[in-house]
Amino acid sequence: MRTPTPSVFIQGIGAYKPERRLTNEDLSCIVETSDEWIRTRSGISERHIAAPGETVADMGAAAARDAIRNANIPPEAIDLVVVATISAPSSVPSTACRIQQKLGLRPDIPAFDVAAACSGFLYLLQIANLMLRAGDYRHALIIASEQLSGIVDWQDRTTCVLFGDGAGAAVVSKCDVPYVGILGNVLGADGTKGDLLAVNLRTGPKPESVAGLPVGNHVISMNGKEVFKNAVRVMSHSCRAVLKKCDVSVEQISLIIPHQANMRIIEAIADELQVGLERVKINLDRYGNTSAASIPIALEEAWQEGRIKNGDLVLLVAFGGGFTWGSTLIKWYQPEKT
Ligand code: ACO
Repeated sequence: MRTPTPSVFIQGIGAYKPERRLTNEDLSCIVETSDEWIRTRSGISERHIAAPGETVADMGAAAARDAIRNANIPPEAIDLVVVATISAPSSVPSTACRIQQKLGLRPDIPAFDVAAACSGFLYLLQIANLMLRAGDYRHALIIASEQLSGIVDWQDRTTCVLFGDGAGAAVVSKCDVPYVGILGNVLGADGTKGDLLAVNLRTGPKPESVAGLPVGNHVISMNGKEVFKNAVRVMSHSCRAVLKKCDVSVEQISLIIPHQANMRIIEAIADELQVGLERVKINLDRYGNTSAASIPIALEEAWQEGRIKNGDLVLLVAFGGGFTWGSTLIKWYQPEKT
């Protein structure tokens, strides 16, 4: 399949990880768990935790500054801001509006949030892709920022060991070079399974804070086993769907960047697609599951490591609460810096 010009591509990628690290050992002082259990069941060794007072918008703005700098454009050139988050402390003003203000972006641009949980960044890529193709916009700033430490129940060992905080961002731009950037995108959702992974208002009294960790008004609840099974099935299927749509074979893919939720989910998908783990980006051992932020954080890291070069086919795949899911195929392209 040949995408019509203009092409829409990631011109700059950025990430932000808060300084504080919470190790599995640290967690074993908070709930009845062990480094061994967490590593063998999930692959996670540590996660980053936002500093007191550090917000979803602060982290998102930091990642966005990095992406704008790497895109080599002035902030005034941004025509659209879209943010994916499920952990912002307020819904209005949106995190996108807060970040627009923090970065001093132009006021004559749309700014809004999207709630698609762990699939959020892939939803943003498609929104940017279609809005850039259809409209007068040239540069979209898409940001995924999550402070999951604020919506985790630190007394629930079945969930609190899995999540972390962080942000990733990208400047998505259009250009006249044919067949580069976003080649295809497949998105889906199944609201009938929504209760299997949800963020709801806390019931009962708020517990005391432990180890300086936040206690929010909302908490994540999850049926881990069901989420696991659905994630493997749906992510494998959605990878195949986007490859078929773009007429690209698995063998042609240079790197797969899956949502970083659980090492066993990633291994099962790689196995199903018959791809060796050397062609899969994995960093969940150091960050845990950062929901929407996990793919852009991993993408930025892969780019910094030199694992993505112009012309490479990169497959992004996500699954999360809602349920929501998506796969995006990218032909990596970045113009020569002048
Ligand atoms: N430490 C020690 N023991 C624990 C812990 C813990 N942190 N959590 C649960 N256990 C215990 C359970 O109580 C249970 O004990 P029991 O047998 O005496 O009842 C035992 O360990 C096994 O629990 P399971 O839930 O069966 O463990 P499982 O192997 O299914 O792993 C996990 C749980 C890691 C949550 C897994 O189901 C999973 O990863 N699911 C996917 C969910 C996910 O990744 N969600 C992220 C959001 S969605 C997304 O991003 C894709």
